[in-house]
Amino acid sequence: MTNKMWGGRFNTGPDEIMEKINASISFDQRLFAQDIAGSIAHATMLGECGIIAKSDVRDIVRGLKAIGKDIEAGRFTFSAALEDIHMNVEAALKDRIGDAAGRLHTARSRNDQVATDFKLYVRDCMDMFDEQLSGLQRALAEKALAHADAVMPGFTHLQTAQPVTFGHHLLAYVEMIARDRSRFADARRRMNESPLGAAALAGTSFPIDRAMTAKALGFDRPTRNSLDSVADRDFVLETLAAASICAMHLSRFAEELVIWSTPQFGFIRLSDRFTTGSSIMPQKKNPDAAELIRAKPGRILGAFTSLLLVMKGLPLAYSKDMQEDKEPAFDAIDALSLAIAAMTGMASDMEPVTARLADAAGSGYSTATDLADWLVRVLAMPFRDAHHVTGTLVAMAEKRGVALDELSLQDMQAVEQRMTSDVFKVLTPGASAGSRKSFGGTAPANVRREAKRWLKILA
Ligand code: ARG
Repeated sequence: MTNKMWGGRFNTGPDEIMEKINASISFDQRLFAQDIAGSIAHATMLGECGIIAKSDVRDIVRGLKAIGKDIEAGRFTFSAALEDIHMNVEAALKDRIGDAAGRLHTARSRNDQVATDFKLYVRDCMDMFDEQLSGLQRALAEKALAHADAVMPGFTHLQTAQPVTFGHHLLAYVEMIARDRSRFADARRRMNESPLGAAALAGTSFPIDRAMTAKALGFDRPTRNSLDSVADRDFVLETLAAASICAMHLSRFAEELVIWSTPQFGFIRLSDRFTTGSSIMPQKKNPDAAELIRAKPGRILGAFTSLLLVMKGLPLAYSKDMQEDKEPAFDAIDALSLAIAAMTGMASDMEPVTARLADAAGSGYSTATDLADWLVRVLAMPFRDAHHVTGTLVAMAEKRGVALDELSLQDMQAVEQRMTSDVFKVLTPGASAGSRKSFGGTAPANVRREAKRWLKILA
């Protein structure tokens, strides 16, 4: 049997393998709601413009809504012979309302239809990400406020650098996620133009109103070039690029949770809800969720690369290659959404071990810079000289196996005779973090103010 949608010029139906390689229904059925919304907007517009009869529009819209309900309820049987979601829905409409269904595809093609459906879908996903990411930001800002003064070691090169606060560290991720959200918002704004009515590639001779369908579907305006309309997939690429960067941020945080939750670090406790046990080692509590989040950029960036390679070198306008845009994108979208959800749960549940954090904050000569700054401030030493004096003191302390504040004043004066006991005030991690009140610095007062500011924005 030839295809009932396009089989007019064919004598035989497709080979089994042809059907298999050609069909997209197994994955594009995910677009059913968008496909139906697009068709309702299109049919309504055709009626308003006098291109098809209002009575046909009524039947079409009623039929499409019923099909949507059937699909939602799992009462719909998809057919691979009908290739994709567009033809599955149209064929079902024919079964339901008869010949009027054949008028729906006037002044439209599957090329502008699929571009429209996919844009609507991707747009919904971006809105979902935005919602989810703001939830994650809220969880982090709440934790940050609760632990605004918990000092911990700040690292560079994963070597102890200077004391920071736990809250400050968490707020760093709140900032990253804010940029992730703004990248999605940028992409959303750029992509929010309706391709519907571009038809196969050249537009149509029917007097359609593209502004009307654009408005009905929540687009800002119709796209301006019919060839570009059906050939553009950069809206997916931008989404995947933004998703890759966001996944990279989550991955960095996940890696920190993995490190922090080891017995060796012991900085945080992860909840039972987001960890697993070992089948052989009874003592284990594994941070599997964090590890899986750490891994997600692989498949998300993979989706981006895969689609970029599908698109590169494709001549205008539509080519069937472009059907390969969906599976990786769906997979990446699902992966990111799940990663955000798991990260939000983990972040809300985790508890810092503040005594351990404070202890670690004081080790590794983390207040050496504070000592050097004291020499600059109190003795008016040039910073380079102060750096050298402090380095000598660190070496002395290291040799004796003690902390900086465990050196005596005499020890210090042997290196720099003008030193006074006042210096000991700046050598504790709490004093160090507390002194960093510069804009964006780690002082608890700053952290509290920033956390509150975020919570207000996110409320
Ligand atoms: N299933 C197709 C896709 O996902 C729909 C567009 C088909 N267009 C065509 N001219 N065969 O791209």
